[in-house]
Amino acid sequence: MNLVCPTCRSVQDGRVESHALDADFTCSGCGMNWPFLQIGAVRIPVLLASELDRAAALDSAREFLKRLEEGPAAIAQPAAGWLAEALQQAATYVPAHWGRFAQPPLPAADLSWIDDWLPPDADLPQGPVLALGSGPGGELPHMVRGQRAIVALDSHLPLLAFAAAAADQASFAMPYRPAAEELSTRPLALPAAERQALSTVLPCCANALDPPFQAESFAAIVMCNVIDSVADPLTLLGQCEALLKPGGALLLSSPYHWQEAVTPHDRRPQRLWPEGIDIRVGMEALLTGQVLPGFLDSLSLQRSEPALPWRMTLHPGVAVHYAMHVVLLRKAIE
Ligand SMILES: C[S@@+](CC[C@H](N)C(=O)[O-])C[C@H]1O[C@@H](n2cnc3c(N)ncnc32)[C@H](O)[C@@H]1O
Repeated sequence: MNLVCPTCRSVQDGRVESHALDADFTCSGCGMNWPFLQIGAVRIPVLLASELDRAAALDSAREFLKRLEEGPAAIAQPAAGWLAEALQQAATYVPAHWGRFAQPPLPAADLSWIDDWLPPDADLPQGPVLALGSGPGGELPHMVRGQRAIVALDSHLPLLAFAAAAADQASFAMPYRPAAEELSTRPLALPAAERQALSTVLPCCANALDPPFQAESFAAIVMCNVIDSVADPLTLLGQCEALLKPGGALLLSSPYHWQEAVTPHDRRPQRLWPEGIDIRVGMEALLTGQVLPGFLDSLSLQRSEPALPWRMTLHPGVAVHYAMHVVLLRKAIE
């Protein structure tokens, strides 16, 4: 799987010129030597455009792993900035993805619907599959399709690092909230099948709005609950369409849980259709090229479900119930 440099792309005569990164994540165009985090044999490149963000990502991921290894007292220590955000994100998403393998188990979300929704190997074009906004990796074992490479992209390095570390070690520590505003850890032993699936994944810390891949690189993309986690959902959807090979599958889910601090009102897709139209109806029209001329018009709807349940336990006293709109789209074969 070739990564391309996210900062030295240019458009020449209407064509995007990009430069591949070599095995050490050095750009063949601008010479930028991108940093990476090594966990066991896995190297996670940090392809964030800002140098400050790269440094913060690496520092917070290292400190996060160190605290996990040191145990419950270390994880409960006060934290600030990126590390505080990493701890809170991990305490929410790690149990949701992996809680059933904690000792003793914690309530987890059911991700097995991906097994059924993502088309089988024989029904996809050649090429790797991509998880966009993969978080701590719970979706990835459900995306195994034959021998295909699986690429996992997320902008939060600590979450990717957690998945790599949990695959690398027979027993690891899982962050969770034993009560509101408290953090602790519990032993986590991933089964061999999950560790095997995760150990073959190529993780990549990058911005999904500016992904470090060439157009038409992927046979399938799975993007669960990310549309309402970015500043510009339309750019993200445009990137998904561009990254898919002809005939490729795009599996999306979202509860459309917009937040002003994340997705400003004037960036939300529903500004594109009259008030009162159900967002799922509007989104299905948008995703099949019927709302903006020329945008997403290579995609067709294969299957949809308006409200798939998704339960996320924040701590023993609070579980949030989301209803996800799930759609499977297919890109036209030219
Ligand atoms: C709501 S979580 C969903 C995680 C997982 N897919 C799930 O459904 O449980 C959103 C994920 O998207 C990631 N994310 C948010 N903005 C991103 C961006 N611009 N580029 C890449 N990842 C992003 C977050 O770090 C987080 O892991």
